[in-house]
Amino acid sequence: MLEIRNLHARIAEDGTEIIRGLNLTVKAGEVAAIMGPNGSGKSTLSYILSGREDYEVTEGDILFNGESILELNPAERASKGIFLAFQYPVEIPGVATMQFLKVAMNEQRKARGEAELTTPEFIRRVKAEASGLQIDMDMLKRPLNVGFSGGEKKRAEILQMALLQPSLCVLDETDSGLDIDALKIVADGVNALRSPDRAIVVITHYQRLLDHIVPDTVHVLYKGQIIKSGQKELAHELEANGYADIIGEAA
Ligand SMILES: Nc1ncnc2c1ncn2[C@@H]1O[C@H](COP(=O)(O)OP(=O)(O)OP(=O)(O)O)[C@@H](O)[C@H]1O
Ligand SMILES: [Mg+2]
Repeated sequence: MLEIRNLHARIAEDGTEIIRGLNLTVKAGEVAAIMGPNGSGKSTLSYILSGREDYEVTEGDILFNGESILELNPAERASKGIFLAFQYPVEIPGVATMQFLKVAMNEQRKARGEAELTTPEFIRRVKAEASGLQIDMDMLKRPLNVGFSGGEKKRAEILQMALLQPSLCVLDETDSGLDIDALKIVADGVNALRSPDRAIVVITHYQRLLDHIVPDTVHVLYKGQIIKSGQKELAHELEANGYADIIGEAA
């Protein structure tokens, strides 16, 4: 579903290369975890997948269902079913979360050739998903992410994902800032989206998230490259030993 081939990318403004020959394949039905030390390029990779203009791809390609997405803008990528939950979710002042969700869902439906949801149907869907994530409906009347606590932002991201039903979900440090109960709720929300025709990429530092969202594959990103790939045991090994051995092997 997602195939990244020899990707090189730099910051548009000053030309600093951050992604340096990254290869990664994530198949449909798979949950892939990306781990790696601070500053290795994990969030940058998620920004590049989303199509942010601050980055330039200088070499390589990103294929989604066999087609390059490099020329697509962020909205076109989203309409193809690519969903990114960022480490630091953006605040959208002036737009009530409900309104935002409605527009996002209807855009998605339009792109799939489906009819717009009626308002009662939309509200029914939001209520059902919000209650599973223990999100208060009052919170959804407020502007998206504005003044939301760290954990509320993360839940709001999972709510969007649950409603949009994307084919590729990339979650950047969805566990950061979550209390113990919220971690479980968010993980259950992600697990509910596991499906043979969907791929999920979770970027995380800690095994604790992967105890709840058990990954099929684990990849270590270091200095802009995947230096090791394995199965769920690789995350346990990292938790026990840190990155030094793996970085040493790759050097
Ligand atoms: N606009 C920018 N200007 C200069 N350097 C940048 C810019 N954006 C990112 N970087 C650098 O790129 C590197 C990769 O950053 P990135 O945020 O992708 O790391 P990360 O793997 O997500 O780290 P963390 O685990 O701390 O979230 C870092 O060294 C960062 O300082
Ligand atoms: Mg990051």
